[in-house]
Amino acid sequence: MTRPTVKLRPEIVAQTAYRQGRPAAATDFKLSSNELPFPPLPAVVEAVAAADAYHRYPDATARRLREAIAERFDVSPDQVLIGSGSVALLYQAALAAAGPGDEIVYPWRSFEAYPGMVALTGATGVQVPLRDDGSLDLDAMADAITDRTRLVIVCTPNNPTGPVVGHGELEDFLDRVPDDVLVVIDEAYTEFVTDRRAADGSRLLAEHANVVVARTFSKAYGLAALRVGYLVGRAENIAALHPAGIPLSVTAQAEAAALAALGEVDEIGRRIAEITVRRDEIARALADQGWRLPVSQANFVWLPTGAHTGEAEQIFRDHGLVVRAFAGDGIRVSIGEDGAVGPILKSAAAILARFPELKHTKESVER
Ligand SMILES: Cc1ncc(COP(=O)(O)O)c(C=O)c1O
Repeated sequence: MTRPTVKLRPEIVAQTAYRQGRPAAATDFKLSSNELPFPPLPAVVEAVAAADAYHRYPDATARRLREAIAERFDVSPDQVLIGSGSVALLYQAALAAAGPGDEIVYPWRSFEAYPGMVALTGATGVQVPLRDDGSLDLDAMADAITDRTRLVIVCTPNNPTGPVVGHGELEDFLDRVPDDVLVVIDEAYTEFVTDRRAADGSRLLAEHANVVVARTFSKAYGLAALRVGYLVGRAENIAALHPAGIPLSVTAQAEAAALAALGEVDEIGRRIAEITVRRDEIARALADQGWRLPVSQANFVWLPTGAHTGEAEQIFRDHGLVVRAFAGDGIRVSIGEDGAVGPILKSAAAILARFPELKHTKESVER
C-alpha cells in the first residue's frame, strides 16, 4: 500500500476505504447495492427539476422535510435530523458520542461502514458476532456493554444477512442498556419488513429517551443517488448531535425529491410489495434447492458460501449478475428486476452442483 506523504492519524491510514458494490456492465443485473430496480417516479423527477435555484444554499435544517417526517411519526420537527444519507447520520451520531478511550458496540457481520466509522471516532469497536441463523445476538450485545460504552448500534433488518430483531426482544434489550448510553437503531430496510413481530424502533422512542432511529430514502424510496436519510429521537439528543455534522450537506434537490417521494404513498407501497413478494419467492426456491438461508426481511438474500465465496461470485458473474461477495463468508444478492430471478436461481443451483458440501439435505438440517 502506498503511504501518505503527510502526517495523518495512523488509525485512519490503517483503514481501507468504504468499498462500493462493483459497477455492472449494461448487460448485467446490478444486484450488489440493495437498490430498487425501478426508475425514478415522475413526481420526483418533476420536483428535482423545479428545485432549480442552484445559486442559493439549501435550507440547512431541511425544515419542510423534517415537518413531513415528523407528521408521519407523530413527533415534533425538532425530533428529526436530516442528513446526506443515513450513513452520514450514523457517522454524526458516532462522532458526537464516542472518542478515544470509549467503546462502540455493534453486531458483526453487519453494515460494512460501521468499522470505518468507529475508527474515525478514535473509539474502540466491540464487534458482537451474529447467531448461527444470521440474526443479532442481543443478549451478547447487552453483555458487551461496559462503563466505557458510548454507543450501541442495532441493525434491523441486518445487512447483509437479513433477519430482524423481534419487538419484545428489542424491548428486553433496551431494558438492559443504561439510560445514558445512546442506542442507534439502523432501520435502513425497515419498509421491506413483512413480519409483524419485527421491532419498529419508532414505537420505542417515547419510553426510551436514549434511542435514536436511523432511516433512509435510498432503499424503498429509490433515491440512493440523491443522498437523504433521517434520524428520529428525543429532541434534546437530536439537538446535541447537530454540531457533529457537516453543515449544509443536504441539497435542496435532495430535500425536494424526498418530499415528493413521501407524497407517493400508493406507488411506493406497490413497489415495495413487488420486491417483498419476489424476495419470498426467491428465498423459497433457494431453500428448495437445498440452501439454508437466514430469514431475510430486507430487499436482499444471503447465501452462506463460506470458503467458496470467490468461485461462487464468479458463477453469478457468468450468469450476468453482479452481487456482493464477502470473502470467506457469503454472498448478498439484492432483489432486483423480475428478469434477474431466473439467473439467480440458475447460479445458485450451479454453485450447489459445484460445491455439494454447501447443500443442506432435509436430514442434515434436522440433525
Ligand atoms: C444497514 C444500512 N444502514 C445505512 C445505510 C446507508 O444508506 P444511505 O447512506 O444511502 O442512507 C445502508 C446502505 O447500504 C445500510 O445497509
